[in-house]
Amino acid sequence: MTALTLSTAGAATLRADALVVGVAKSPKGGKGPVVAPGAEAVDSAFGGKLGAVLESLGATGAEGEVTKLPAPAGLKVPVVLAVGLGSAPEKGESFDPDALRRAAGSAARALSGSKKAGFALPVEDASDVTAIAEGALLGAYAFTAYQGGEKTGKGKNDNGGAKLPLGEIAVLGAKPRDKAHKAAAERAQVVATEVNIARDLINTPPNDLNPESFAAVATAAGKENGIKVQVLDEKALAKGGYGGILGVGKGSEAPPRLVKLAYTHPKATKTLAFVGKGITYDSGGISLKPAGHNETMKCDMSGAAAVFSAVVSAAKLGLEVNITGWLALAENMPSGSATRPGDVLRMYSGKTVEVLNTDAEGRLVLADALTRASEEKPDAIVDVATLTGAMVMALGNRTFGIMANDDAFRTSIHEIAEEVGEASWPMPLPADLRKGMDSPTADIANMGERMGGGLVAGLFLQEFVGEGITWAHVDIAGPAFHEGAPYGYTPKGGTGSAVRTLVRLAERTAAGDLG
Ligand code: BES
Ligand code: MN
Ligand code: ZN
Repeated sequence: MTALTLSTAGAATLRADALVVGVAKSPKGGKGPVVAPGAEAVDSAFGGKLGAVLESLGATGAEGEVTKLPAPAGLKVPVVLAVGLGSAPEKGESFDPDALRRAAGSAARALSGSKKAGFALPVEDASDVTAIAEGALLGAYAFTAYQGGEKTGKGKNDNGGAKLPLGEIAVLGAKPRDKAHKAAAERAQVVATEVNIARDLINTPPNDLNPESFAAVATAAGKENGIKVQVLDEKALAKGGYGGILGVGKGSEAPPRLVKLAYTHPKATKTLAFVGKGITYDSGGISLKPAGHNETMKCDMSGAAAVFSAVVSAAKLGLEVNITGWLALAENMPSGSATRPGDVLRMYSGKTVEVLNTDAEGRLVLADALTRASEEKPDAIVDVATLTGAMVMALGNRTFGIMANDDAFRTSIHEIAEEVGEASWPMPLPADLRKGMDSPTADIANMGERMGGGLVAGLFLQEFVGEGITWAHVDIAGPAFHEGAPYGYTPKGGTGSAVRTLVRLAERTAAGDLG
């Protein structure tokens, strides 16, 4: 795991493999890129000509741009890496922390294979320390567990040519003795580590990560972090009447699980419930997905991974709030024992659901978990799920949708997501879409109108939330799994979407900032 320090050394004295500096596009009317604050000592070592050197190398300061140059004498590093920050702020304004987060991520990725780098980016306050540390730690991620195991007698670290992530990040310009800066770095270390653990879970192939092994991971993490973990296996689920989770899991050789993670703080006055969709593989079931739509469906447990990592983060940070995490785990497979389109399931709530499409399985496992979570009367419930392709159509691959039964709560989650640098957008729950789910046989069908499919799914879930409980639904089907080239601190594969939003929500609730 990548180490993080707040360096007491300045850029001129730090010994490392590289120094990272920021370069921004010059403000309107200005010429050439401008070197960002934090890089003064590096600029001096270049005789005050770093900006000119960068310009002659073609650097513009555009976001994500990375320029490597040999360090001049006077610095204790061989390489200087200039990373683009986008537009320079107006006079008197500061760099956007999220631009710093993304730039630190780009730099950390460009430095994979290196042991240590100093980050000399602009630091004005603790939120900049958080952004730089988080971005660098999230950029320094690689999933290599399944590479380099070939029995050829090659070295242990031969991971098929992929480089190991940057080993150590030293943040310059932060003050190690400043309480706020220190706390920001410690928090960033916890949160980034947990986001990276969520990514690992998502990236783990579905022949290794199934409901049982995911539950075992949660049990072990619970022991380590003082979180009470209860696992309902298929027998307990049958005894409890969890028809939704069982109905989805029936087709698989790997039976389903419902995991409860209870983190409590003795001084807590509020309790949050986080519910995660944990389909360890979504083949579609009998309504089988065609080729081209199932290759990445190991990612269908990203909601459960986010919930798991958020609860562990809260425990590690010792937040003054109670959080119950619910992981609704099942594998959606076709087989002779699988649920058929046309089957009716009796859910944990007692409601019956006609399954018209076995590929609309997420809402079935979530429904049971939402009803169960509601029994404990939390102050609010947030579910996180890779629920619908329709949400990806609506918002694209980088933005998650938020629906809620409470406008103020939906707005809060949207604002919190923005604060931590996760793209999101509020979505409605139009009541007229409910009738599309009317079933001639059961209380409700698991499918409705195709248009607005993401909202239809939200309306379905709403029916399983306990009376009077504030609830929000976060559909991360777009951003959970990144198939394109890496950018900023976002790698290929699992992204850990929604972990940072959930952690911040927990912090804000602990601080009494919310209702
Ligand atoms: N897991 C999928 C949704 C999904 C799609 C996640 C793309 C990530 C990327 C979900 O279970 C699903 O199959 N939803 C169906 C619902 C439909 C049958 C009503 C969909 O969106 O097509
Ligand atoms: Mn599905
Ligand atoms: Zn699914």
